[in-house]
Formats: sequence, C-alpha cells, structure tokens
Amino acid sequence: MNVLIVGSGGREHAIAASVAKSPRADKIFCAPGNAGIAEYAQCVPIGAMEFDKLRDFAKENAIDLCIVGMDDPLVGGLVDVLEEAGIRTFGPKKNAAILEGSKAFSKDLMKKYNIPTAAYENFTDPKAAVAYLETAKFPIVLKADGLALGKGVLICKDLEEAKAGVKEIMLDKKFGTAGNEMVIEEFMTGREVSVLSFVDGKTIKTMTSAQDHKRAGDGDTGLNTGGMGTFSPSPFYTKEVEEFCEKYVYQATVDAMAAEGRPFKGVIFFGLMLTEDGPKVLEYNARFGDPEAQVVLPRMKNDILEVMEACIDGTLDQVDLQFEDNAAVCVVLASEGYPVSYEKGFPITGLEEFKKHEGYYCFHAGTKFNGDQVVTNGGRVLGVTAKGKDLKEARANAYAATEWVNFKNKYMRRDIGKAIDEA
Ligand code: AMP
Ligand code: GLY
Repeated sequence: MNVLIVGSGGREHAIAASVAKSPRADKIFCAPGNAGIAEYAQCVPIGAMEFDKLRDFAKENAIDLCIVGMDDPLVGGLVDVLEEAGIRTFGPKKNAAILEGSKAFSKDLMKKYNIPTAAYENFTDPKAAVAYLETAKFPIVLKADGLALGKGVLICKDLEEAKAGVKEIMLDKKFGTAGNEMVIEEFMTGREVSVLSFVDGKTIKTMTSAQDHKRAGDGDTGLNTGGMGTFSPSPFYTKEVEEFCEKYVYQATVDAMAAEGRPFKGVIFFGLMLTEDGPKVLEYNARFGDPEAQVVLPRMKNDILEVMEACIDGTLDQVDLQFEDNAAVCVVLASEGYPVSYEKGFPITGLEEFKKHEGYYCFHAGTKFNGDQVVTNGGRVLGVTAKGKDLKEARANAYAATEWVNFKNKYMRRDIGKAIDEA
C-alpha cells in the first residue's frame, strides 16, 4: 500500500513511524515532511494547503491511502478534494472538521445534545460581547471561533482585560477571520486530560489517555505554546472518569455529528477538564494531538493502517484497539525564545543515539536538512520520547535522553510529568 501523509511536525513524524511498522506499507510519502520524517518517508515539497498539487501527486504516485495530520487542511476541506478524485483518505470531511474549525459550532452542538461543557454565549457583535461582559463573573474565558494555532483563547481576570480581549479578537483581528465570531465561556478549574479516539462515522474507540503541558515555562507559567511535553497514560483519567465520558461524551459526540448530517470519520481529540462537577469538554480537535500523538502512538499495538482503513470503511466495531501496559513521556526541545521569537538554522548533534536504544524516539517538529546536516527550523524542534514500565521510569528515561541531543539555544521545561508525583 502506498501512503501519503500530509503535515510536517512531530505528530506527522509519529504517524510516519507507526505507518512504517505496518507490514502493509509499501512506499511512504510525506508532504512536506521534515528531516526526521525523511527516515521513513520520501518528503515531497508540497504544502499542506496546496490541495490541487496534493491531489495530482496522489494520483500520479498511485497513493492507496492519504492521512491528513494537520488541522488547517482538514478544516479547509482537503479530504473532500481527495475523495472526489477517488483517493482513499483518513480524516474528517470539511462538514465534520468544523467540530474543531468553529468553537461556536462545537459549543452549540454540545448544548443541543447535552454534552457536558462550560456555560457560554456566542457573539458576532463586539458591542453585544462587551454588554454581556459587563454583568459577567470573572475570571472569564474568550475564544476566537476559528483556528488560531492554539493561541485564540484568552483567560481574563477582570472586565478591563476582557474588553481588551474583545478588541484584540474581534476588532484588531489578531487571529484574522478566526475572530469574526467569539465564544465567551465560564472559567473552569481542574486537571486537563486529552483523550484521542478513532471514529468511523458511527463507532468510536478511544485510545489511551495523555496530558499536555501548554505553557512555555516550568510550573505552568509563561505564554501558551503548541505544547511543551506530554505523558501517557494520565493517572487522573480513572475508571470512573472514563465511564462517565463513555456515557455522556464520546458516543454522544459521534451520534450528534451523525444526527446533524455531518458523520465524523477520523480522529476526535477530546480536551477534557476534570472539574469538581465532573468531566467537561474544553474543546474538540479533529486530528491527533501534537505532542499527544508522540506518547500515544508508540504505545499502540495495532497496525495503524488497519485501524485507519476500518475508520474509512465503517468497520471499526470489528477492531480490538490495544495499547501496551506501560507509559511514555515526551519532552519538547524548543529554541530559546519560543513562542515569541527565536533563531533557526543551528546544527543538531546526537540524533544517531536514538537508533541504539529500544523504546526511545526523537520526533522532529521543526528541523530540516542543510546539506547532510540536520538543523533547527522552528520554535519546537524535537520531541524526545521514551517509554518506561510506569510514568516515573518513562519520565526519567525521557529526561536522560534529552541530554543525548544538542543544538544552540536548546530550551526545555524541566517539569514535564511532575503531576505524576501527585497522583
Ligand atoms: P482550548 O484551545 O479551548 O483547549 O483552550 C486552550 C487552553 O485554555 C485549555 O487547554 C485550557 O488550559 C484553557 N481553557 C480553555 N477553556 C477554558 C475554560 N473554560 N476554563 C478554564 N480554562 C480554559
Ligand atoms: N496538544 C494540543 C493540540 O494538539 O491541540
């Protein structure tokens, strides 16, 4: 089977590594890919939003399965373009990817189908938003409706900040058209858990849980980032939490999408908050998490291609999804200054060390080749991942492995997985 993966980050590297393990994989391509993905796949210089070029490439290279990893092309309708051309594709169509593409849509869906989430209102008029805020309780959360690289969420401690937030999102258009509409929602507290799942339009099978660390600095300080590290499973995702979500969240979401005439096929990522009043949905994503995929996929026992084909064919009910009874931790090595400003182009040393150790992975997020040399090419550079028999061992292994690789301005959080100690 010839496979084309669309994307260029650590998530796509983790997907490529899983695909490469499948005995069914023949040629693997990745568009545009990166220096690490090049170990498993032939990287082709086509951008993830160049739909026509991707379709033509898939046709010319007899692609049997295309896997879309990233949110932008999913929300933009790449799956529809490929399927119309007869190319089997893993991922939701545009009318289902809206689950991630519009927060106003997903909040309305949850309200209509009684899926637990924070209380909220949607606004298209900034004046109405401010009027609402004038009598609201603080802190409060403002969210740009559309995709904003994970940065369109503002937690405002008082009216002053919230008014400035409305201006930023709706008037200054800091996140572009993503801010044409806005959700204002109740501030919740609790632990966050990410649960990824495979969905075939009607059946859902959840994967092992994970937890992300979104802030740039130790102790969850500093700016929000794409994710500075993850661990899996989450010790806070108890049997009780799982049973609650199975009853009120997972199947309910899949059924709601089907009932709306938007059957979802692909990965639904549930961002959950475990509040005092029970688990609530913070957000949905329509794809694997990054860096959640880096700790979840290496622990999956199934052939990823078989699972993805079952999602496309509507036969997921016949798949017995299984994960190893161990743990994994991913520590992101970033460029000093991320997520604001940082330098790129520095040589990376020590990557070969990962080949010598079973259960260790170095997923590339922002790298490229400069001649034969792998150099830094982004804010998040590498996701150093290790397995262990439990979370503590996996964390110790991952941090030990962060010492194997070096590049100028290497920065990492030192407390990834610290919450494990409180479990
Ligand atoms: P989202 O993109 O919706 O997941 O939001 C990004 C992050 O903002 C989440 O991971 C939470 O840490 C935080 N957040 C989002 N919504 C809320 C909320 N209603 N209450 C508290 N924190 C929130
Ligand atoms: N790690 C969070 C996300 O992928 O959106």
